[in-house]
Amino acid sequence: MDMNIAVIKGDGIGPEVISQAIRVLKTVCEKYNYAVNFTELLAGGAAIDATGTGAPEHTINTCKKSDAVLLGALGGPKWDHLNDRSLLIIRKELGLFANIRPVILFEELKDICPIKDNFIKNDLNFIIFRELTSGIYFGRKEKTSNYACDCMEYYEYEIERIAHKAFAAATGRSKKLTSVDKANVLETSKLWRRTVDKISKQYPQVKTEHLYVDNAAMQLIRNPAQFDVILTENMFGDILSDEASMISGSIGMLPSASMGEGDFGLYEPSHGTAPDIAGQNIANPIASILSAALMLRYTFKKSDAADNIENAVKKALAQGYRTADIANGKSFLGTKEITDKIISYI
Ligand code: IPM
Ligand code: MG
Repeated sequence: MDMNIAVIKGDGIGPEVISQAIRVLKTVCEKYNYAVNFTELLAGGAAIDATGTGAPEHTINTCKKSDAVLLGALGGPKWDHLNDRSLLIIRKELGLFANIRPVILFEELKDICPIKDNFIKNDLNFIIFRELTSGIYFGRKEKTSNYACDCMEYYEYEIERIAHKAFAAATGRSKKLTSVDKANVLETSKLWRRTVDKISKQYPQVKTEHLYVDNAAMQLIRNPAQFDVILTENMFGDILSDEASMISGSIGMLPSASMGEGDFGLYEPSHGTAPDIAGQNIANPIASILSAALMLRYTFKKSDAADNIENAVKKALAQGYRTADIANGKSFLGTKEITDKIISYI
């Protein structure tokens, strides 16, 4: 069966990095004889310019009919004043409540990890499960000229379904799950903790612990190797995943997958549109390339091809090939040129 992939290249560096991820996908699919189709769609600033709205119905509907979505990044200074929520609308419309961000420090990038050597294990590797379609991002809002309010809201079922995803992942990994909340202050966090404890009973093999988010932020720097699966709500996960990305050397290295109940998923680098470096062929495409690998693994169950991409990235790094953000003052390649190297190892 063909793989039907909707592609939203987006704004800023989005088109550059996604074009490279597509080249990698085409190469690997050719190698394994998988039929793949790409359908390009507009969203974000590009869609506002072309259609007047950031999340056109056509885009949402076509995504819904696809097996997976590959997305660059949306937005930029040109559209800031519009307060565009198209990425949030897309996530919500597609039912993508589970945002999965694996944090991996490749051996070869240890020299740019800001954490000292003796605090990082050799294969530092953990995964963040962030609730993506509720919480303060989607709660009631109010504003007047001198007052504003964003409500953090959670229903129990919204916590249950992301918790199941995280516990299932923990079961297949080191069987340790850290749930992050602010249960000493927030009602939503008290519900979160109670619900996670309830779900944990269905996964008796998994050791569950709870951390307050401020402590978790500190522990990520103090001793990141203590983590395996981190489970948290929307905004805490947004903040902690940016923090954690530096452990992998650069936010340019961090892929992400957003999933609902089934195999459908949206895959995007965790970074933004980086307008300051857009169009210069210097952005790091690896987060997008690794997101494509996650797509092959989670949506299409092609772990052979996914492993192939991840190993090709590792090989390129091992050969000393770098982009500017991970070069540590040494020479580096462009967006397209590092992808050429990665493709040569597929
Ligand atoms: C992310 C981004 C988005 C978020 C922004 C662009 C709305 O920071 O995917 O982490 O906050 O979810
Ligand atoms: Mg973020």
